[in-house]
Amino acid sequence: MSLYQVYAQYPITIVSANGMQLVDDKGDIYLDYYGGHAVISVGHGHPHYTQALHDQLDRIAFYSNVIENPLQVELDQRINAHLEEPYQLFMCSTGAEANENAMKLASFKTQRKKILAFKNSFHGRTSAAVAVTDSPKIWAPLNTGHEVDFVPFEDLETCEQLLSSRAYAAVIIETVQGVGGLDQPSVEFAKGLQQLCEAHGSMLIADEVQSGFGRTGAFFSYQRFGLSPDIISMAKGMGNGFPVAGIMVKQQYQAVQGELGTTFGGNFLACRAALAVIDIIENENLIAHAKRLEQVFRKAVSEASLPATIKGAGLMIGLDFKAPTAELRKKLLFEDHLFVGSSSNPNVVRILPALTIDEEAIIHLVSCIKKHCA
Ligand SMILES: Cc1ncc(COP(=O)(O)O)c(C=O)c1O
Repeated sequence: MSLYQVYAQYPITIVSANGMQLVDDKGDIYLDYYGGHAVISVGHGHPHYTQALHDQLDRIAFYSNVIENPLQVELDQRINAHLEEPYQLFMCSTGAEANENAMKLASFKTQRKKILAFKNSFHGRTSAAVAVTDSPKIWAPLNTGHEVDFVPFEDLETCEQLLSSRAYAAVIIETVQGVGGLDQPSVEFAKGLQQLCEAHGSMLIADEVQSGFGRTGAFFSYQRFGLSPDIISMAKGMGNGFPVAGIMVKQQYQAVQGELGTTFGGNFLACRAALAVIDIIENENLIAHAKRLEQVFRKAVSEASLPATIKGAGLMIGLDFKAPTAELRKKLLFEDHLFVGSSSNPNVVRILPALTIDEEAIIHLVSCIKKHCA
């Protein structure tokens, strides 16, 4: 018997973790600058987070959405407190599922089928989510029936040409691309896109699965662009490792019973995990901290004169070396015991630590990178 092995894995077995430290089965310590794809938002084993989950587990872990769950209402309010205008929360369990629900909802509300997405996008691996992911190698024949167009960032003219057909249910955008390699649109392009959506009746979906919950130095990344999306999808950092996800739907859209649904989404433990994450983000001022540590990173990289350009924002940041980085990442992992991330752009190293990371740890990472670049 064996696993159905679809992952390229490192021969490392992690058995415990605390803060940004990971400990393997031999007792060796690794530092986590990656958070398992940007999931660990408030650090491994944060005492407030673990206590909140323990307490909830002692009361009740799960019941389905056949009953009211006040924790969902509380979470809706706590997320809304970070937004400029009111949204309604619908919960599910993964990022792909959040995007799947966002696009399905846009299709219901507009009664249209097409989706406009962007070059180098990544939105997940399920049906419509993978179809709007610009990576044909992960499309199965089953996924190719969706009507999707991919446009590069900044090409507002093509966006207008397509959207003016009034056939597009939605435009889905990562305002800082994750897997794609940390590219961002200009503020002018993002705002122009929103105007086109409004003019031609398409819904704007902000994919905040990776960039949400404070990671870019704003609660959601789209806020840095002054956007007002119709739907926001979120997951990853929302639960600090507990599988919790959701969409925020602008107040003007009225829910219709049965149009979306889920068994696991919004269960007690999931809500408690997300509420604990928000408590920690607020109590420890982690959004401002992420913004400040971006500047620490920028300064350290510039002082180290690394042969790379900085990409991204807040603590969703990275280095583009204009040459492949696989060897560098291997050295960081096996020689220095530092986990960093890759990207579909082989030249980009992604750095996605917990938002609780300190200045010293940022400087340590940059000095290790410098050592290997010498
Ligand atoms: C921007 C973005 N959207 C969606 C997803 C899919 O999330 P999940 O793996 O939880 O389905 C990812 C995962 O990396 C992502 O980065």
